[in-house]
Amino acid sequence: MKTIALAAAKGGVGKTTLAAALATAATLYRPGIKVALADLDPQGSLAQCWNARALPQPTLIDLTGRPLAPTRCGVR
Ligand SMILES: Nc1ncnc2c1ncn2[C@@H]1O[C@H](COP(=O)(O)OP(=O)(O)OP(=O)(O)O)[C@@H](O)[C@H]1O
Ligand SMILES: [Mg+2]
Repeated sequence: MKTIALAAAKGGVGKTTLAAALATAATLYRPGIKVALADLDPQGSLAQCWNARALPQPTLIDLTGRPLAPTRCGVR
């Protein structure tokens, strides 16, 4: 499994937009690939973006506002 984390010290530089675009592009152009987005931002921007989509892929794992507890590390 490959994991891509987008992080920047500065806000509003396009992290959410790029994450959504990368996941959507992978789903569209790599048939059969399984892609999951995890929203860790308390603002829930990525979840809002996902909710506006017509297609169910890529999958959204909504972790908004939740700490990364060890029991959640095995979530696929
Ligand atoms: N390549 C781009 N060209 C123009 N505008 C962009 C581009 N990427 C993002 N934006 C716009 O910039 C704003 C901030 O983008 P985004 O929410 O993705 O940033 P962010 O880094 O996730 O912000 P935050 O730190 O608040 O989570 C949004 O209004 C978005 O539409
Ligand atoms: Mg963001």
